[in-house]
Amino acid sequence: MGRRRRIFEGKAKVLYEGPEPGTLVQYFKDDTVAWHSKKKGTITGKGVLNNRISEYLMSRLGEIGVPTHFVRRLNMREQLIREAEIIPLRVVVRNVVAGSLSQRLGLPEGSVLPRSIVEFYYKKDDLEDPLVSDEHITAFGWASPYEIDEIMALSLRVNDYLSGLFLGIGVRLVDFRLEFGRLWENDELRIVLTDEISPDNCRLWDIKTNEKMDMDRFRCDLGRVEEAYQEVARRLGILPESATPAKPEGKKS
Ligand code: TMP
Repeated sequence: MGRRRRIFEGKAKVLYEGPEPGTLVQYFKDDTVAWHSKKKGTITGKGVLNNRISEYLMSRLGEIGVPTHFVRRLNMREQLIREAEIIPLRVVVRNVVAGSLSQRLGLPEGSVLPRSIVEFYYKKDDLEDPLVSDEHITAFGWASPYEIDEIMALSLRVNDYLSGLFLGIGVRLVDFRLEFGRLWENDELRIVLTDEISPDNCRLWDIKTNEKMDMDRFRCDLGRVEEAYQEVARRLGILPESATPAKPEGKKS
């Protein structure tokens, strides 16, 4: 591809100017960070897998009427997206106690929550994304009360749908993180799902063994990170050709 204007480089993705006004190209890198960039690394092939997994999940969500920025996948590492105005929040939905919830409230990891919990974090890397309430969000004008309601409703819908989808392939959706933006559609400003949905921003545990199949394998040095991402893609039925592990000799498919 020719030279394109780079709009933004994040930890795991790069955004380039898109082919038409109002579009961007989202490029998925193999670079990986954890613990608010204190731990850095590279997971070979992760970008290819996340591009494919996020395409699949965003497309399924689009089909059930969840508005997203996703347009189409362009190649192994890139997808075309609609440019949305960023809402500076990270939204975490939790079904099972893990990670920072376990640490903050001293709850045992793995306990099923009495109901799904939605949390808001202020998107500010140098402050390590602090937890905030509706009060902060409206007082500082990050989103209106109506937008908060919309984000809550969409997040819970995404949770219901993805929990079922993952359950169907033997995976428990423990928690995940979403981002949203604003987009003009038919003279109406709409809230749309942005960023990506992949094992980078979901906790996915095997339903039978509780084995972690997500970014925690990298965060906590559990090893076999790429294999876990591949297994998620394989169970979703979308393992990219190039990522298919070589078959042992003598075995037929
Ligand atoms: P937490 O338990 O560490 O707060 O994480 C909650 C969810 O958010 C979990 O699914 C992982 C995801 N997450 C990210 O995607 N990026 C991050 O930088 C962090 C801290 C969490």
